[in-house]
Amino acid sequence: MKQINHHIFRKALAALCLAACACGSASARDQPLQVLHWWKSASERNAANLIAQRVGAHGVGWRDAVVPSGSGVGAGIVLRSRMLANDAPEVAQLNGIVVRDWARLDLLLKLDTVAAAGNWDKLLLPAVAATIRYDGHVYAAPLGIHRINTLFYNRRLLRRLGLDAPATWAEFERIAPKLQQAGIVPLAQSSEPWQVATLFETMVLAEGVDLYRGLFHRGDVAAYSDPRLAAALRRLRAAKRWMGSPIRERKWGDSVRELAENRSAMMVMGDWAKGELLARGLAVDDDFGCAAAPGTGRYHLYNIDTLSMLGIRPEARAAQEKLAALVLSPSLQADYNRIKGSISVLRHPALAKMDACARASWQLFNSGAAARIPSLMHRMTIDETVRDAMVAEVHRFFLNDSVAVDDTQRRLGTIARTFIQTK
Ligand code: GAL
Repeated sequence: MKQINHHIFRKALAALCLAACACGSASARDQPLQVLHWWKSASERNAANLIAQRVGAHGVGWRDAVVPSGSGVGAGIVLRSRMLANDAPEVAQLNGIVVRDWARLDLLLKLDTVAAAGNWDKLLLPAVAATIRYDGHVYAAPLGIHRINTLFYNRRLLRRLGLDAPATWAEFERIAPKLQQAGIVPLAQSSEPWQVATLFETMVLAEGVDLYRGLFHRGDVAAYSDPRLAAALRRLRAAKRWMGSPIRERKWGDSVRELAENRSAMMVMGDWAKGELLARGLAVDDDFGCAAAPGTGRYHLYNIDTLSMLGIRPEARAAQEKLAALVLSPSLQADYNRIKGSISVLRHPALAKMDACARASWQLFNSGAAARIPSLMHRMTIDETVRDAMVAEVHRFFLNDSVAVDDTQRRLGTIARTFIQTK
């Protein structure tokens, strides 16, 4: 099967090279593509460098336009203002729902020719293929799938204290005091809004998949008064006592470092944190393990990193298409996703080359639609304005203990009622 992938891939690339030469465009290397993304941590940097180097070997220049911002909140703002100033980059990391929103405004290059030549419909996992399409056209080149509901744990610390990684929040509450007594922070966490929201969405999922879908996929207003939403909010507040004091607004990479340096025992984060642990020289199984975030073992809460092309410079098109084709090469997929902590978007990746965390993620993602939950925080569901308003409410609730649970529920419900258009 891998051979077939290679074969399809080579044919597609050959077709694209021919197209590029036929229209007599200037060498792609002469005019590097500016790529706007938000990857700044060590593993993110290594992953971006790998793509730059591989596409460079095929004559496509890559010029970094990095806007460091965990989860890309700042990068989105910069991209929008650059668009308005007529200074857009040729390539941008958009992801999920943002791809659809920009496609709707006719701001993205259609990648239909590349997708057809590369047989993307056969090559890509169907769930991935669906997220890069809008109105019958392809608008993004997918890189990898991240599992958001991952619990990373420091194996050495848990082993030393004779503790098991918790499968539920009740189990977590049982082991947390023991860790704290031993002078270890049970849960590495930052008070940065997107990081609080990432933890919170896993807690909502732990309360019920129908609750998660009702709140964040269907925008079902009644779900906002569900007592299980109150339980998730209380859970978030209760978990604060296990996060060390004070809880700082720090980068996610700093929490990873705390875990790696044996100062904290666990961390709930998307599996880009695995990439960072690996970059710090730690090994899956020996040094750290990954499990599902408590109470979410049956679900794969995910997002997909993608690159979209902005059609601002017609002469860049051949290079943009070549870049799109190249990111799906089996070897780039395997190497990139290993560095990044994500899993391949291909139907038949080299499973044997994956570590235990990646293999578990891949199997669950492909176990059926019921297991797959597009993430609110990481741009896979409702649009960014609504998401940002919700994140602000959850953040306020997290920081200020005097904000009442029912008040927050009501405010979230109002946001849903005001903004979400039912489909
Ligand atoms: C996610 C993105 C990841 C990673 C993370 C932290 O939204 O999908 O690739 O970069 O943010 O910045």
